[in-house]
Amino acid sequence: MIHDKTMRKISSTIRMMTLALIALTMVHCINEGLLTHEKEMILSASPNVPFRVLTIEQTNDSLFLRQKARPLLKKELQKESIKHLTDRMLATVTDSTQDGVGLAAPQIGIGIQLITLQRYDKEGAPFEHYFNPEILEYSESINAGREGCLSIPGYWGNVERSQNITVAYLNREGKKITEEVEGFTAVIFQHEIDHLNGILYYDRIPSGFEALEKAE
Ligand code: NI
Repeated sequence: MIHDKTMRKISSTIRMMTLALIALTMVHCINEGLLTHEKEMILSASPNVPFRVLTIEQTNDSLFLRQKARPLLKKELQKESIKHLTDRMLATVTDSTQDGVGLAAPQIGIGIQLITLQRYDKEGAPFEHYFNPEILEYSESINAGREGCLSIPGYWGNVERSQNITVAYLNREGKKITEEVEGFTAVIFQHEIDHLNGILYYDRIPSGFEALEKAE
């Protein structure tokens, strides 16, 4: 009977889709959160000890900087290892030998979606940490500005970025925040979120690395 045949077809399709969904969910779970060797690396020194920053001068570092970062699970955000990680990222970016305004976890060899950056648009310009950040909207108005990167020491370049962005992220409590950011802070967000996608700032310059200037 046609009716039975159709029903069988539908139920087999549903079964297939369910299986595919389960498989997808499993792959997703495996690819999220901190890996064992990452946890060990984070906890190998005190919270005030800076990490080594990966640079494009070393082949292995360079390959890692080109990878996409994994999202963190909400339930992980308040774990001790994550607190330890953000403390050490702060120690790294504020280290007198670095003196940066932002840092992304892949830059210190941790492949997760976490950035630390200085909020010049807030009173006292505090450093803050953002988990699983993504840019939802870019303004059409573009500004060119000077950028450098701790992973590309000794160089700077002029990069065109959106003047305003809408960014969404999780805070440490796992609450999803959406906010509009503008000016230099928006530039830092764009630069750091690029790192989570394996993008370096000179990729945004038409003639690439060749266009960079040597820092004095
Ligand atoms: Ni950078």
